[in-house]
Amino acid sequence: MGKDVIVACDFQSKKLTLDFLELFTGRKPFVKIGMELFYAEGPDIVRELKARGHKIFLDLKLHDIPNTVKKAMAVLSKLDVDITNLHAAGTSAMMKAAIEGLTREDGTRPLLIAVTQLTSTDQESMERDLLIKEPIGDVVIHYAKTAKNAGLDGVVCSPLEAGIVKKACGMDFLTVTPGVRFADGDTGDQKRVMTPAEAKRIGSDYIVVGRPITAASDPVAAYERCVKEFVD
Ligand code: C5P
Repeated sequence: MGKDVIVACDFQSKKLTLDFLELFTGRKPFVKIGMELFYAEGPDIVRELKARGHKIFLDLKLHDIPNTVKKAMAVLSKLDVDITNLHAAGTSAMMKAAIEGLTREDGTRPLLIAVTQLTSTDQESMERDLLIKEPIGDVVIHYAKTAKNAGLDGVVCSPLEAGIVKKACGMDFLTVTPGVRFADGDTGDQKRVMTPAEAKRIGSDYIVVGRPITAASDPVAAYERCVKEFVD
């Protein structure tokens, strides 16, 4: 897996998604299917995009008791996705159960990564709502190490934290980073943000970019700009 830009297809329907992806003539961006699209269209949207040649990050952020997550992951293992994820806050027992569920009979499985703290969470909301008082960077590192020890392949984290995660968990431990914005763009509800170029410099393996591409007046140009800043 090399460095790549993953386009967050946060659309309400298959039609809107396919209309959007058809703008990319000749290119097959790595796409992220999140809750909105998956809940609207079900597993068929994964099969459809896979059949069209896209790599897929299935971003459903599982978080439940270990047995439930194991069984849900066993169902997801039948979809040919490249990356899927869960919340590290579910604890290492849940993460180990997830790997068991996700591993197919032939021993293969999609990459499994853990959400540390959502990039919409900041120090203040974490302290106030979650009663977690440690510095957010320490919390992210602790969750990343717990995920690594449970056998996961990497984490979703803010690009601001990708460097410290690599330092704590090793260069092979994947960092997938949403919360990416162009220097001249809106931040929206994302609180811990970075540009594609900065994310590259700090060592992110994948950036996940939604609205800066999907809501751009020229989405293909915005995608190309991300690729130019992050990959080339
Ligand atoms: O539109 P925007 O670029 O903010 O989209 C970011 C995408 O990454 C969304 O689909 C969001 O659900 C996802 N994400 C995130 N923060 C995380 C994990 C996933 O923003 N920690």
